[in-house]
Amino acid sequence: LNNGLARTPQMGWNSWNFFACNINEIVIKETADALISTGLADLGYVYVNIDDCWSSATREVQGQLVPDPKTFPSGIKALADYVHGKGLKLGIYSDAGIFTCQVRPGSLYHEKDDADLFASWDVDYLKYDNCYNLGIEPKKRYPPMRDALNATGRTIFYSLCEWGVDDPALWAGKVGNSWRTTDDINNSWASMTTLADLNDKWAAYAGPGGWNDPDMLEVGNGGMTYQEYRAHFSIWALMKAPLLIGCDVRNMTAETYEILTNEEVIAINQDPLGVQGRKVYTAGTDGCLQVWAGPLSGNRLVVALWNRCSKAATVTAKWNVLGLESGTSVSVRNLWQHKDVTGDAVASFGARVDSHDCAMYIFTPQSASRSEF
Ligand code: GLA
Repeated sequence: LNNGLARTPQMGWNSWNFFACNINEIVIKETADALISTGLADLGYVYVNIDDCWSSATREVQGQLVPDPKTFPSGIKALADYVHGKGLKLGIYSDAGIFTCQVRPGSLYHEKDDADLFASWDVDYLKYDNCYNLGIEPKKRYPPMRDALNATGRTIFYSLCEWGVDDPALWAGKVGNSWRTTDDINNSWASMTTLADLNDKWAAYAGPGGWNDPDMLEVGNGGMTYQEYRAHFSIWALMKAPLLIGCDVRNMTAETYEILTNEEVIAINQDPLGVQGRKVYTAGTDGCLQVWAGPLSGNRLVVALWNRCSKAATVTAKWNVLGLESGTSVSVRNLWQHKDVTGDAVASFGARVDSHDCAMYIFTPQSASRSEF
């Protein structure tokens, strides 16, 4: 969507994956505080996004949405002021149907009133869900909110949460700043790998202004190993997915913190070229040895060696699958070990990778040039 936002994928935090409906204004404020005190905000995680359950079960008599008086007694404007005071941005949630997924009022047929209300609260971001949609096609339900947001005069990030049901990559580029390509993530290796593969299909449709969204991060929520979370974060970054933290940032382990604050991996996600990396090669049983790669600015490449097999193995990227001319000398930087690999590679590059782990590199060709992917 050409509204000046999302030149690179959005970064921030969202309440749903960890808190679900157990949210309140104290949690949101403490999260904003933690994004600052941990340094996450300085790394680019600036959106503080409230998901479902902020609203009362019914609209008030004049038809306005109203924050739940028990959990958000100070209202959303006060929260926006609070997060803005810290240099952060506030996101809210509604639904392109008559109810949200947790059966709070939806915005279908209330687009103008609700967009005006969100703008009056100084909200910066809207996640727009797909429950209770009366069977009306998404292409008819999502543009009215885009137009209503645009008419407010406030620049508001518009995140479509259509779950990929009507192939939004094919039409949402003119509608939103990101669009979910999949059903909801859950905190498991099976879910994460499935969503990565589903999202990969739509790589050609992502770019500055509009990104494929394979759902929010589960890093730090405990259902995957350190290696699996590192792979999750690596592949989301490479796919130019939104980096929306989904854990409790007030209580992170050192491992969670290390993953989420890897500046070299974040820089892959935020690279100005804005091209979604793809799965370019598979080998092994059911293709569990995988190479994912994509172009970066400055004629560089990002290359991930992802071992989805059940045992440690060597994963190798050959130049032809990366679009490199054979004989091209490449210097290699390891983004998890934070060091340059000694000796330039000239035909292929391989590394031993633990089961379910993902090694990630920047390749800088030293000679010759690269043909297109
Ligand atoms: C849907 C969305 C989730 C979350 C919940 C909230 O399932 O896909 O991301 O917003 O609704 O109810």
